[in-house]
Amino acid sequence: MKKDFISLNDITTKELFELFDLADTLRSSSARQPLAGKTVALIFQKPSLRTRVSFEVGVHQLGGHPVVLSQEGIGVGTREKASDIAQLLSRYNNAIVARLYDHKILVELAQHSTVPVINALTDLSHPCQILADVYTLRQHKILRDGIKIAFIGDGNNVVNSWLEMSKLIPMHFVLAAPIGYEPNTEILKSAQNNGASTVEIVRSPEDAARNADVLYTDVWISMGQENEREKRMKDFAGFQINGKLLTLAQPNAVVMHCLPAHREEEITADVLEGTRSIVLDEAENRLHIQKAILAKLIGNNSGVIL
Ligand code: CP
Ligand code: NVA
Repeated sequence: MKKDFISLNDITTKELFELFDLADTLRSSSARQPLAGKTVALIFQKPSLRTRVSFEVGVHQLGGHPVVLSQEGIGVGTREKASDIAQLLSRYNNAIVARLYDHKILVELAQHSTVPVINALTDLSHPCQILADVYTLRQHKILRDGIKIAFIGDGNNVVNSWLEMSKLIPMHFVLAAPIGYEPNTEILKSAQNNGASTVEIVRSPEDAARNADVLYTDVWISMGQENEREKRMKDFAGFQINGKLLTLAQPNAVVMHCLPAHREEEITADVLEGTRSIVLDEAENRLHIQKAILAKLIGNNSGVIL
């Protein structure tokens, strides 16, 4: 039966670490081509640099062929119903990767597709990003039970995926967000009730940052929210990762950002580009971890240990 990767709820802790090991294996050997003869459709309804390039290059490196489709080209929900697109793409391809606005459309694609569907970001979540983030913490040997992750800013799609990750590995996850910018209520409740981790929402960035192992942020204005710019700029004033906030964290704390970044808004340029920043490793690791997901979901096992 096909398996989708729509959210981090789709994998277990054991599978998470198997994916990390597989990513390590794939990054150290370019000879492995578990997608030989396969094609992957990549749908982008929103802009993308990292996700598009890492998936496209990743499919190629695994021996497969990526087929990139834009919203202008295929018109998800405008030119054609998502259910028709899903059935049709399943006839040509071995997997569908989709970046969409409405998460419900992604679920609809998955329901009607006969091949695995992978979430490349929706308004609700961004699971590939958080997989890469935790893989990066492991790479830097910072990952440990109870690690304190302080997310400063908007309780958005990236935060929702962190909350889902908190059910897989024990952490202390603290979101410092202004009132009105909380994450998805159900996802938050599920993370808090799960008990694997401590999950808190606070209003003070300083309280969140104190003794944190990781300071994380994302843009204040996500894709599709451009017309809220004026209000958001006011509401998020003070929720910036800067040198002063960094002094409250652990001396060896790292700074993360999924990128793209808006310097001097959610993060200052000196911190983003400073010695504690691991944002480029995070971005690079999108490639390695997504290759592992693809190999796991649709890879041929012939000659390759997956
Ligand atoms: N972090 C991330 O998903 O980047 P893109 O929007 O450029 O793909
Ligand atoms: N929250 C951001 C993430 C970009 C990778 C957005 O949705 O635009």
